[in-house]
Amino acid sequence: MRFGTIEVRAGGARGELVLNRPEKLNALDQQALRELADAARWFDRQPEVKVVVVSGNGPSFSAGADVSGFAGEDPPPERVHGGADAGRLMAEAIEAMGAVTVARVHGYCIGGAVVLAAACDLRVACDSAVFSIPEVDLGIPLAWGGIPRLVREIGPAMTRELVLTCRRFSAAEARELRFLNRVVPEEQLDDEVEELVTQLLEKSRVTLVATKRAVRDASEQMLSTTGAWSDADVLMTALSDPESRRSGEAYLRRMRDRG
Ligand code: COA
Repeated sequence: MRFGTIEVRAGGARGELVLNRPEKLNALDQQALRELADAARWFDRQPEVKVVVVSGNGPSFSAGADVSGFAGEDPPPERVHGGADAGRLMAEAIEAMGAVTVARVHGYCIGGAVVLAAACDLRVACDSAVFSIPEVDLGIPLAWGGIPRLVREIGPAMTRELVLTCRRFSAAEARELRFLNRVVPEEQLDDEVEELVTQLLEKSRVTLVATKRAVRDASEQMLSTTGAWSDADVLMTALSDPESRRSGEAYLRRMRDRG
């Protein structure tokens, strides 16, 4: 299957979904979000695939939502609304896949990339991976159904702290918070992912899918993501709020000045 921003491969029971805009640290633009959702549906049409590894090409897993359109003139509202909703639809499509998804996280994993990782079933990272959720500094709420997914995985108190402060956190802390299943030194990351994938591939597809669905249904009952459809509206409200916009502009200036 050919895409512009991601690489998708299926060989027997194993699939690979690779974010592939390394020159932009795999920032998730509209095309990438749509392609990720399409790829998730494509994997569901490959009945032999049991496990899909989700990873990023180049130095990082992903620097999150593509912020290059954030500066400058107001985008047309339908683009903002569609943009916010594309992220939600991506996360829902990844989460709904029949195959078990394993996120392989290295380098930066930021904002929307944390939501992508949270939508995967299992998460393995190297110890040098760096996480942050900077949306609030960008003057926008964390959208894409990110809040309920994080609350489910790490609880409300730490979700509040990480989302409200926007501070960086390490792979060790993410493991302690139980966001990550496994953390290993960088040079062992591929072996660790392989070991996990091999274990999973030995199981029958029917039981893998049934177990995955059961956990997903239980998680939805604990805390549903169905309200995430309104994230796009809240995002639009923030984008038209003067104080939020000033915050976002200051963040983007800091990002540019650093480079
Ligand atoms: N959207 C669009 N482009 C991005 C991006 C993003 N989220 N993150 C990185 N890039 C681009 C940079 O603009 C740069 O492109 P250029 O070479 O054409 O100028 C390229 O990717 C490499 O990024 P750079 O900033 O030079 O890498 P770094 O290693 O110095 O810093 C980060 C890495 C992740 C700390 C930094 O890129 C960053 O803060 N990115 C923004 C993260 C963010 O706020 N994401 C939004 C989450 S909602």
